[in-house]
Amino acid sequence: MNFSLAPSLENRLAPSPTLSINERVRQMWDAGRTVYHLGFGESRFPPHPGIVDALVEHASRRSYLPGAGLPELRQAVADFHARHLQRDIKADQVTVAPGSKALLFAFRMAVAGATVLPTPSWVSYEPQSRLLGRPVLRLPASPRDNHRLHPDSLSRLLRDSPHDSHLLVLNSPSNPTGQMLEPALLQEIAAVCRRHNVLVLSDEIYALTAFGREHLSISRFYPEGTVVIGGTSKHLSLGGWRLGIAIVPPGENGRKLLRAAVKIGSELWSAASAPVQYAAVTAYAADDDLAAYVKKCAALHAARTRFLWRGLCQLDVPCAEPMGAFYLFPNFDHWRKSLAARGVHTSVDLAKFLLDQFQIAVLPGSDFGTPAAELSLRLSTSYIDLETDAKAARMIELTDSGIDAEALLRDHHPGMNALLDRLRSFLSSLQAP
Ligand SMILES: Cc1ncc(COP(=O)(O)O)c(C=O)c1O
Repeated sequence: MNFSLAPSLENRLAPSPTLSINERVRQMWDAGRTVYHLGFGESRFPPHPGIVDALVEHASRRSYLPGAGLPELRQAVADFHARHLQRDIKADQVTVAPGSKALLFAFRMAVAGATVLPTPSWVSYEPQSRLLGRPVLRLPASPRDNHRLHPDSLSRLLRDSPHDSHLLVLNSPSNPTGQMLEPALLQEIAAVCRRHNVLVLSDEIYALTAFGREHLSISRFYPEGTVVIGGTSKHLSLGGWRLGIAIVPPGENGRKLLRAAVKIGSELWSAASAPVQYAAVTAYAADDDLAAYVKKCAALHAARTRFLWRGLCQLDVPCAEPMGAFYLFPNFDHWRKSLAARGVHTSVDLAKFLLDQFQIAVLPGSDFGTPAAELSLRLSTSYIDLETDAKAARMIELTDSGIDAEALLRDHHPGMNALLDRLRSFLSSLQAP
């Protein structure tokens, strides 16, 4: 049988880089090789028992739920975010879907115009634009100021753009940099977006993993023009359960957006899984024990990510101090000459070199939109020393036993310590001609 791929897809899509590296690492592990896996961003801690109990209790719920979500869940999500984002949010502003990725796609399909992406930004935003046949405008950024977003550049880009309308995707805390947008910057971005009539898709999936400063949503400054995206994948380590949430602006404009996204969802996934939605009512309830557990997991991500960041600083590798999530985005431009002598000219070459020569799995910065020749890498700390469920559960037990972060990292993170040794060997190997 013969078939052709749709012309809109041919040559437009490569497999998701995060999933590809994971497969490659698994093959190497299966072949008995040691690999330090910094390629995959999945929070590994055990699910909170209260949410698991809720899922078990509702396992027999098998009917389709309304496209926008279970009414009790929409109410719980509205109340939860009203508290966390310090905004007035009503249940009819909320919709849920199988993952925030699906919602990002639906909202972008619903709204006309070009997508503006900061550089670097999460791997899936640009491929989603290609699937939708939408143009992407990249905001220029430099490793010299930690890829900071400059409102002036945003303003210039919008002023000079050939497109009639724009949607800006923000992500704070950020995957891949672990950086957060501070309040004054959010206010400036909001002012530019208001002036240029830009809708903001604010991907706040890492909001509850913030540790460098309080999470603040741009929707506080630009409620009429912001769709907030979130979900249970990161702070609750429930990626595989597939539950994402979106909060649209108040009023008729927001309702119009929500109706369009729900219509798209109704043709693609109908509704998020019923048992998961019932369990998510518990996940979004005001519950002190659950809130404390989320904080504990965020503190562990913080300790592990800061440990690796400090290690990089000691090796004089430029890297912004992490503020949230579990990512670092170091830059190796300083070693450009010695790397070129070893055939490494791009971040893709560098990632391959590290895996082949030093058993360190990372993602190249160019997967996140940085120029090919910029030698930036994305390091995820979420997996190392937490490769199995048992190891992840043990890390929580150790924390509960009152161990301090220094001892936890020194005595219970063999992979992280060995990885730092590998990085040291890598950098010393570059001193040799
Ligand atoms: C920035 C960002 N947004 C969205 C997602 C998607 O999350 P999910 O579809 O599991 O809700 C991820 C997952 O890696 C992410 O890093």
